[in-house]
Amino acid sequence: MSSRSSSTTGSSIPAALEHYDYRLKLIIIGDANSGKSCLLEQFREGRFFAGSTHTIGVEFASKIVSINDKRIKLQIWDTAGQDRYRTVSRSYYRGALGAIVVYDITSRESFNNLPRWIQDAREQASKEVTIAVVGNKRDLSNERAVPMLDASRFCQERDLLFMETSALTGEGVVDIFELLTRRIIDKIQSGQIDPKSVANGILADHLTSRKDSPGDLTVAKPANGGLFSRFFKFLFSSCDPGNNDLKSL
Ligand code: GTP
Ligand code: MG
Repeated sequence: MSSRSSSTTGSSIPAALEHYDYRLKLIIIGDANSGKSCLLEQFREGRFFAGSTHTIGVEFASKIVSINDKRIKLQIWDTAGQDRYRTVSRSYYRGALGAIVVYDITSRESFNNLPRWIQDAREQASKEVTIAVVGNKRDLSNERAVPMLDASRFCQERDLLFMETSALTGEGVVDIFELLTRRIIDKIQSGQIDPKSVANGILADHLTSRKDSPGDLTVAKPANGGLFSRFFKFLFSSCDPGNNDLKSL
């Protein structure tokens, strides 16, 4: 597993010390070659990575976005779509509150495989997982094999978010990450999801990250620097990828 970290803020404060209100885990899943890694690169860096090769296992990145006056640290796990990595990839779904399920609009097969990926997310991620379906490679609409209407009907029937994107041009990329995050935050703020729930993998209530890298121990404390009501350890372990939940000390 490799890891990358970035922030939208552009400040000189190290990302590891930046304040955030919630930390959420998202996963990106779907068939190999659908463009998952390119979508993540476009979201993180605002550029198309033409030399993308198959992801092996999973890759990790983080980025802070602002939604509803809250700063949200997204911890994003980009998984391999190749069948041979399916078992190891699925073990990283645990605790994810958001899943972006990607298909390639020029590949009917990748669209036909959506139910399988969605089922995986429902079985392995948080039981509160919000799912967004993304039809990627919109720039190749002259080679389109999946009519947008088919996809939007599929998603409507299952109450899934849906958007077409192009990791190449950037169209729709930030929008789908923000739409998904907004939907999750709405659920938290309306009480549908308990932000204190360890099982939900959310770190909430004005916490400041002290050290934040997968494979490392993260200790968080209230940003006001006052008495700590709680401490958490958030252990990402490449040896034990299922161990992604918040853990009370
Ligand atoms: P795995 O890691 O094997 O699961 O694949 P992936 O889903 O991460 O695919 P990746 O992002 O590596 O992209 C696969 C291929 O599609 C690469 O050759 C990319 O250059 C190309 N690609 C990705 N997104 C787009 C897009 O929006 N438009 C076009 N034209 N090509 C894209
Ligand atoms: Mg990839």
